[in-house]
Amino acid sequence: MSFDFGLAGKRALVTGGTRGIGAAVVETLANAGARVATTARRLPTVAVPGVHFVATDIATADGCATVAHDVLTHLGGIDLIVHVVGGSSAPPGGFAMLNDEEWMKELSLNLMPAVRLDRALLPGMVEQGFGVVVHVTSIQGRLPLPESTTAYAAAKAALSTYSKSLSKQVSPDGVRVLRVSPGWVETEAAVALAERLAVDVGTDYEGGKQIVMNALGGIPLGRPARPQEVANLIAFLVSPLAGAMTGTEITIDGGTTPVV
Ligand SMILES: NC(=O)c1ccc[n+]([C@@H]2O[C@H](COP(=O)([O-])OP(=O)(O)OC[C@H]3O[C@@H](n4cnc5c(N)ncnc54)[C@H](OP(=O)(O)O)[C@@H]3O)[C@@H](O)[C@H]2O)c1
Repeated sequence: MSFDFGLAGKRALVTGGTRGIGAAVVETLANAGARVATTARRLPTVAVPGVHFVATDIATADGCATVAHDVLTHLGGIDLIVHVVGGSSAPPGGFAMLNDEEWMKELSLNLMPAVRLDRALLPGMVEQGFGVVVHVTSIQGRLPLPESTTAYAAAKAALSTYSKSLSKQVSPDGVRVLRVSPGWVETEAAVALAERLAVDVGTDYEGGKQIVMNALGGIPLGRPARPQEVANLIAFLVSPLAGAMTGTEITIDGGTTPVV
């Protein structure tokens, strides 16, 4: 399917662009004619032709500085930033298992890369009077799951609040700032999780998926979102087609969020 998003020649940075949602965003923006740079710790298994790759750990201040410098040097400026990187490695067991180190890990991955990269790259956008920033949050910011992702959920909520504040400051300068809040997305890691759960209880992949959906309180649509569906939404939001949108969060969760 092809659609003209009006993104030809736009200079874009996508963080976490080698797997899952980020990989779909990289491919979608590149196919739409954008000049794309992306970053992860490890090289992608399949590189997208023409996409510039920076290998670094952006959970660190030095990693963010490396990415910002490299991207500005390679692209000569920046028009679009899609902050996809994020995730959780906290142990199960609730709040008591979350020591300071676990909290800092979640904040370092889910909040600080956006803060640091925006601080380095937004002045250029403000100066040129144009730019779009998308922060990928999570429905857990409003629907936290206490078993193992309290700190992740809190970090995503902080990211949302930070993003809203940023939008108020820079929208008058022509820089739009938006949030995309996914529910469960069928990434490679999600498929592996459903397969593991299926083996544990002796069911098939669809049964494994159902276990995850039940844990979320059900997904009215009956399935997780696909990474490409999240990428389609992000491509629209960074495009001129969404030129009146800023400071808002768009949820893509198949109806999981049970409130208005
Ligand atoms: N999947 C879901 O169901 C879901 C639901 C709600 C929200 N989200 C959010 O959507 C975003 C993408 O999730 P996903 O599931 O698509 O992710 P994913 O498949 O786990 O991919 C994560 C990407 O980020 C990179 N990355 C991880 N840690 C990094 C680090 N310290 N420095 C640099 N790069 C790093 C990974 O590459 P390397 O490992 O090689 O570094 C990879 O490219 C995240 O913010 C997540 O919180 C996902």
